[in-house]
Amino acid sequence: MGRMEGKVALITGGASGIGLSSAILMAKEGSKVVIADFNVEGAKEAAEKIRVQGGEATGIFLDAGDGKSIEEAVDFTVSQYGKINVLYNNVGLTNLRKDLDVVNMDLEEWDRLMNVNVKSVLLGSRYAIPHMIKAGGGSIINTASMAGFASDSIRSAYGASKAAVVNLTKYIATQYGKDKIRCNAVAPGLILTPAAKNNMVPEVLDVFSKYNALPYHGEPEDIGYTVVFLASDESKFITGQTIQVEGGHYIANPSIPDMKEFAKKTQS
Ligand SMILES: NC(=O)c1ccc[n+]([C@@H]2O[C@H](COP(=O)([O-])OP(=O)(O)OC[C@H]3O[C@@H](n4cnc5c(N)ncnc54)[C@H](O)[C@@H]3O)[C@@H](O)[C@H]2O)c1
Repeated sequence: MGRMEGKVALITGGASGIGLSSAILMAKEGSKVVIADFNVEGAKEAAEKIRVQGGEATGIFLDAGDGKSIEEAVDFTVSQYGKINVLYNNVGLTNLRKDLDVVNMDLEEWDRLMNVNVKSVLLGSRYAIPHMIKAGGGSIINTASMAGFASDSIRSAYGASKAAVVNLTKYIATQYGKDKIRCNAVAPGLILTPAAKNNMVPEVLDVFSKYNALPYHGEPEDIGYTVVFLASDESKFITGQTIQVEGGHYIANPSIPDMKEFAKKTQS
């Protein structure tokens, strides 16, 4: 028996990368999945692949920047499969040309990223929660980012939006815990999704490797397995948490090399 047998899950941004990996793993564990994505062709293809492998999946259109579209995706899930037990709010965007430092950032881009990255989590949850209550509970999972914990020279809106996702996760967990609805987040470090692989030159990947505690990069499945755990009843006493899946990139004090250098000098 699968770890998510009998469950129904809606995954946003499920046509690619982290969302796709999570959808495939959830389906393997027995969940019926609705893959909702701006790229509707990709969502349908992903669902078809899952069905060919014996799973149950449907691909639909979603614009996570549009509340009506989010409501329709939740309603579709319930009408297609009779209920919704798991909502994975995974869509999130940044824009390296416009999401800059505080003085120079494009303010329209700030509003767009807050809308897509944070408000979509609020709205997905708002529309799914009444159905989850009817179903006797549920699990909401949000994709945050390590950018919500550590700052950067650019991507001010992305970082602030992901920090908001971390805190909104706790609010949802607090407000609906007594209804047996859990809400957790996963905060990826660099994950080699197809987009990340195409966009990053080897030198930049080497910089990431240098600061990972582990000797390899993250893959979409590293997030997917974490999401399956949070979606399944195995995590039934975990709520309001954000699990950092980041290869130990952010765990060490950044001044350690300087301190070692200092210790060497003072010992000699
Ligand atoms: N890959 C990483 O290194 C990394 C690191 C930290 C956090 N994240 C977060 O992980 C999540 C998924 O990222 P990914 O790397 O898998 O990206 P990806 O580009 O591989 O996939 C994102 C999917 O979302 C869809 N999408 C984009 N905008 C949408 C919208 N408005 N409505 C509906 N669908 C939309 C795209 O069509 C695509 O299928 C995002 O929230 C991102 O911020 C990724």
